[in-house]
Order: sequence, then C-alpha cells, then structure tokens
Amino acid sequence: MLQCHNVLVLPFLVVFSIFSCNGQDFGYDGSEGPIHWGEKYQQCVGKHQSPIDIESQNVIEKSFPPIVYDGFDQNLEQVNVTNNGHTVMLSITKGEPPTVSGGPLSGTYAFTQLHFHWGQNDSLGSENQINHQSFPLELHVVLYNIQYETFKNALDYEDGLVVLSFLYSVSHTSNSKYNQFEEALDAVRDILASKEIDNFVSLDDFVGIDRGAYFTYAGSLTTPPCSEVVTWIEYQNTIPVSREQIHNFRLLYSHEGHLTHNFRPVQELHDRSIYFNRSDSVYSQNLNTVWALVIVFLCDKIFNII
Ligand SMILES: *[C@@H]1O[C@H](CO)[C@@H](O)[C@H](O)[C@H]1NC(C)=O
Ligand SMILES: *[C@@H]1O[C@H](CO)[C@@H](O)[C@H](O)[C@H]1NC(C)=O
Ligand SMILES: *[C@@H]1O[C@H](CO)[C@@H](O)[C@H](O)[C@H]1NC(C)=O
Ligand SMILES: [Zn+2]
Repeated sequence: MLQCHNVLVLPFLVVFSIFSCNGQDFGYDGSEGPIHWGEKYQQCVGKHQSPIDIESQNVIEKSFPPIVYDGFDQNLEQVNVTNNGHTVMLSITKGEPPTVSGGPLSGTYAFTQLHFHWGQNDSLGSENQINHQSFPLELHVVLYNIQYETFKNALDYEDGLVVLSFLYSVSHTSNSKYNQFEEALDAVRDILASKEIDNFVSLDDFVGIDRGAYFTYAGSLTTPPCSEVVTWIEYQNTIPVSREQIHNFRLLYSHEGHLTHNFRPVQELHDRSIYFNRSDSVYSQNLNTVWALVIVFLCDKIFNII
C-alpha cells in the first residue's frame, strides 16, 4: 500500500520540480494569468511594458537610416524547434546567427530565437495591435546586442534586445514557405518535445514581405520577467497564411491541455512615443509626381513660346 502510494507521488514531484526549476510558473489563465505576473516578477508592472496598441494617428513619422539585415538571405544550416509549454520556439544549433543593425538601432544584434503568439480563434491572437485591431498570429524574432555577448547578459541593459515583430493575415491559400516549419510544429505537439531541421528556409523567405514600413517603440519582453530592454520593430505589412496553418498552433499542448492562446493583453503606453518609418515607395511616388508636373509645366511654356 505504501509502495503504491510512492509510485503515484513520484511523477508529480518530478513534474513539479521541472516547472519550478525552470521558473516556468506563468500561464495565460486564472491564477497564473497575466494580471498575476507582477506578484512574482516586479518588472511586469513597469511603465514601459509590451505589447501595446499602436494608434496610427499618434505616431511620429521619421525617416530612419535603412535597416541592415545580415544573413537573412541564407538558409539556416540547422535549427531546433521546441515546444516549451508557452510557445513554439526556433533556435539555431549550427551556423552563424543572422544579425540586424541600422534603422533605429545603435548597435548590432544577433539572432537568438524566434517564436509565436496566437489566440482561440482568428479574430484575436496577436500581442501588439494596430488601431485596436488584433491579428490571428504574431511572430517575434528575438536578437540580442552583441556588445553584451549573451542573451542573458543583454537582459540587464536598456538597449539589450530587439524584437522584429510580424503580424499575419488569413489567406485562402496556404503559405508554402511554412511547410518545413509546419512539419516541425506537428512533431512537437507534446510539451518539451523538440525537432531538428537541416537547411531551414532563410529568414527573408520565412517573412517574405516588404519591411520598409514599420513602427518602433521602447518596450519589454511580453512574458516574465518582462524586462524593459526591448526595442520593438513592428512591421506594417502582414504575412499571409491559411486558416489551417494558424489552427495548427492551437494543437500544441501546455501543462494545462491545448495551448489555445498565449498572448498578453495590451499595456498602457504611458510617457512613450511610437515612431513610424515612412516607407520609401510613398516618398518616391510623391517625388515622381512633382517631377511629372514640372515637365508638363515646362513643355507648356516651351510650346507657348514657340
Ligand atoms: C533542442 O532543444 C531541446 C529543448 O530545449 C533540447 O533538449 C535539445 O538538446 C536541443 N537539441 C540540440 C541539438 O541542441
Ligand atoms: C474568439 O475567442 C474569444 C475568446 O475566447 C471570444 O471572446 C470571441 O467571441 C471569439 N470570437 C469568435 C468570432 O468566435
Ligand atoms: C525607412 O524610410 C526611409 C525613407 O523613406 C527609407 O530610405 C528606408 O529604406 C526605410 N527603411 C527601411 C527599412 O526600408
Ligand atoms: Zn513573444
């Protein structure tokens, strides 16, 4: 009887210690939900938290220098896709990490991981919003300032991280650039499962949109410890994927059953400004219009004189 009792208790102890050792003691519902994060993680109640609602009439337009995406055009030699119970995360296990610099950034940032946020249905799921609109899926590409050498060290500095954030929209056709990723997604449904993939699609192909128009603001990690060390770059163009491709994310398991949603609600902006990089094309279109008018004007003058 006593032995039987021990056999039952042991698995619970093991499961309990895995979660408490990794500090994975947050969730998206009930007593572990976002409104309780601040009880264990002080920074989650800070004044520069993410995500936010970006109101396009309140942004400051600015022309930043071009962002330099280095290594984004190369396939990734080997990646590891993991279900960590909060999201599905991809990290690089072989080869040089891609980097970004320029734009609003003052240093060089190296890729550390990418992961996703989604919701119960397609009318919600993104963390950041634009004009109160939610999107069904959001991708966070997380990079750390190489001056601090590791992701962990970078968490102690205001300019430690950048998150390149992409929103998705529902399309009638499936996005074939996600085939490799979806295979991994199916393979890591169980909590803590992982799968390696060789020769993974390049980050340029994975996002596959024009990145000229973006919002940028100072914020935080959207999960505990909510460190306020993130320069956010939120792209305006959305990545099209099918309903089914989005649904596959909801089939992952957390330690509370299906991980149907993992987005933090929007936080107050407080004293922050949001900047918008005016995209090149609009600017040059306007310039072309001006030139066309000048030419018409001159032709008219010349013809009149003749
Ligand atoms: C992939 O990630 C999992 C979970 O973090 C880890 O256990 C595994 O060792 C990783 N594989 C490689 C090759 O790094
Ligand atoms: C989507 O899910 C949310 C949260 O469960 C719910 O409030 C909302 O009614 C759902 N919307 C649709 C269109 O099903
Ligand atoms: C931001 O806008 C400027 C000015 O139009 C443009 O030159 C630059 O390429 C844009 N940034 C990106 C990343 O495209
Ligand atoms: Zn995230």
